[in-house]
Amino acid sequence: MTTWTKARLLANAVEHVDITAFDARPLIEMYRRTAFQARNTARAADIYSEMLADKECAVIVTLAGSLISAGMKKALITLIEHNMIDAIVSSGANIVDQDFFEGLGFRHYIAPGSPENPVVPDEQLRELAIDRIYDTYINEDELRECDDTMAKVFGELEARPHSSREVIDRMGAYLAANHGGNESVVLTAHRKGVPIFCPAFSDCSAGFGIVLDRARRADEDRGACVDVGKDFFELTRIKLANPATGLLMLGGGVPKNFVQDIVVSAELLVEQGLAGKYGFTGEDVPMHAYAVQLTVADARDGALSGSTLREACSWGKVGTAREQMVYGEVTTLFPLIASDAYHRRAWEGRPSRRFADMLAGATQSA
Ligand SMILES: NC(=O)c1ccc[n+]([C@@H]2O[C@H](COP(=O)([O-])OP(=O)(O)OC[C@H]3O[C@@H](n4cnc5c(N)ncnc54)[C@H](O)[C@@H]3O)[C@@H](O)[C@H]2O)c1
Repeated sequence: MTTWTKARLLANAVEHVDITAFDARPLIEMYRRTAFQARNTARAADIYSEMLADKECAVIVTLAGSLISAGMKKALITLIEHNMIDAIVSSGANIVDQDFFEGLGFRHYIAPGSPENPVVPDEQLRELAIDRIYDTYINEDELRECDDTMAKVFGELEARPHSSREVIDRMGAYLAANHGGNESVVLTAHRKGVPIFCPAFSDCSAGFGIVLDRARRADEDRGACVDVGKDFFELTRIKLANPATGLLMLGGGVPKNFVQDIVVSAELLVEQGLAGKYGFTGEDVPMHAYAVQLTVADARDGALSGSTLREACSWGKVGTAREQMVYGEVTTLFPLIASDAYHRRAWEGRPSRRFADMLAGATQSA
């Protein structure tokens, strides 16, 4: 019988899918003449390349669930490096517990066996300080180092309200200064001026860092804080500065609604005569012109994650001309769509929009 030590359980790291190492175009081409979710995948791939070919269009990617720990990090980095993503809205888990964590040099590990037939009971994992996400493991000691580093980064922020985008940019600066050779979405986005927003920023490792920072301070010294209203305002400013937008949504959750709602918030500013000073010169704010969502949720429960993009049209958020839901798991679908788009090269000649610089300039002059 195998004796499972912590070292043996954390021996095989999750490797990240390299979308440049294979060309998904022939498969997507074959999918086009099939049915069900295969044909929907081909249509979604077409729409993503159309967003990239439309040089006016800013592409916003949303991330839910646990995608970085599951091997999607390198694909996202490739898209950022090739100007195929202009802004990201994510759950905190992807950005802090998973990406920043790996940026510090830590890894996620392949669990032996399967979740349906585990070789090590979860009680034993608890004793070994190993955390589990489905079929992957994390060394909790390393996660605690990540929490401490978050407390340090947060503690060094100026004592004022910050958007999550500003905090995440500082995390990118920290990685650039201390771990510049590591692969990280946060680090690459910092270098490329791609803003990352986490509307529920404290619901992850960042929250533990914030709690630590708060508790260490005297009552009269509140330090920095995260301002979710500033997040929404900054994301709305991107819509006003660049009204043509397309969405590539990986999963559902908070990021999906947050990014869809900027059409409504921007329209409110137009109606109140407040949009001009943020660069908007039109009469109406256009809905998101392109939208793709990959999700395992369906529409029956009436909840957000499975609500269709057609439904979002009734709320004035997403246009119906170029939208596609694809029902399936992101780790199987996203590498195909991303590899197809990378090899189609519609991104060539796309500008690097560097929305983070625009927003940082606004913060400094405020
Ligand atoms: N393991 C984790 O996901 C994890 C860990 C720590 C903290 N959190 C926190 O929990 C909160 C909830 O996260 P969330 O908003 O991402 O919600 P979520 O993880 O519940 O995902 C929302 C929906 O997206 C879809 N989805 C998620 N992963 C998918 C996949 N791989 N393929 C297809 N569809 C998928 C599902 O329909 C899911 O119901 C966040 O604040 C996050 O920071 C999550």
